[in-house]
Amino acid sequence: MSKTYKIALIPGDGTGPEVLDEGVKVIKAAACKNGFKLEFTAYDLGAKRYLKTGEILPESVVDEFKKFDAMYLGAIGHPDVKPGILEKGILLALRFKLDQYINLRPVKLYPNVETPLKDKTCADIDMVIVRENTEGLYVGAGGFLRKGTPQEVATQESINTRFGVERCTKYAYELTKKRAKNNKLTLCGKTNVLTYASDLWQRTFNELAKNYPTIKTNYVNVDAVCMWLIKNPEWFDVIVTDNLFGDIITDLAAMLQGGVGVAGGGNINPDPGGVSMFEPMGGSAPKYTGLNVINPIAAINAGMMMLDYLGQEKAAKDVENALIKALESGKIKSMSAGKMGLSTTQVGDLIAGLI
Ligand code: IPM
Ligand code: MN
Repeated sequence: MSKTYKIALIPGDGTGPEVLDEGVKVIKAAACKNGFKLEFTAYDLGAKRYLKTGEILPESVVDEFKKFDAMYLGAIGHPDVKPGILEKGILLALRFKLDQYINLRPVKLYPNVETPLKDKTCADIDMVIVRENTEGLYVGAGGFLRKGTPQEVATQESINTRFGVERCTKYAYELTKKRAKNNKLTLCGKTNVLTYASDLWQRTFNELAKNYPTIKTNYVNVDAVCMWLIKNPEWFDVIVTDNLFGDIITDLAAMLQGGVGVAGGGNINPDPGGVSMFEPMGGSAPKYTGLNVINPIAAINAGMMMLDYLGQEKAAKDVENALIKALESGKIKSMSAGKMGLSTTQVGDLIAGLI
């Protein structure tokens, strides 16, 4: 009997369904080649359901997700819905409710992909950013006082727990060890100003370092990380950071690898019985919806991460090799929507065909 993995699909809004279709096509090809099965169940979360029924994320659906081996998401967000409602109500809610405490963002420049950095090559841009995904400024702590008056006060607090920081940092150490690239882990914070939150991170980071004698550690302030990512991306192997800093530096880093059309990510709950969710970074791209011109590579990359996470490392490698071959063929002219020289489906067909 071949192994079957149950995957929950959330195509979502805008171009989400288009890119997810190609991701599914490619990972199915890899599954077929490697003798295992993927069984998909689609969920209609997103703008359409919200606008029709007012439902955002029913609790029963969250419970259903817990029974899957993994989740695969297209995009969330729609111009007809006030910004934040769906992003917070679906994407962030899933991360929190399923305790997906790691946001994993590999940043790798593939051949024939243009980077805006002059004189940098594939050898220079190959790192992983580990972003804490359930705490920090994202928890929604704070509030208004005298809202709407000239004396209005708004507070927004960053919540950092020893437990949360430690499990995230530990994950980053383990990943650095497993990756075995430069064995270097960088903590990104702001110790010169955030003397409480960043202090907790730094103490935790330094204490855990004792358990990983083979790993070189260093600390860089977040503003300086932004500078060095542009100037010397080759310095970085694995970076660990909090939720908001991670949100910002992963977008910056996505550009180094060719943009959001390429960048895939995972919301990981590494605990036994935890369920993780994989997604392209591109967003719902309303202006390209339905045109078959959006780049599906980010979704394919996210699918590759999902296979790896499911323990199908060989299948994940097959996807990566096919992606590299497709890029080396020169048939994909650009990573930008509408400029690829191929349609969304043709890019998916090309990569799936090479598997
Ligand atoms: C991301 C996104 C989300 C975030 C938004 C859509 C809420 O930007 O996954 O990085 O801020 O985490
Ligand atoms: Mn973001």
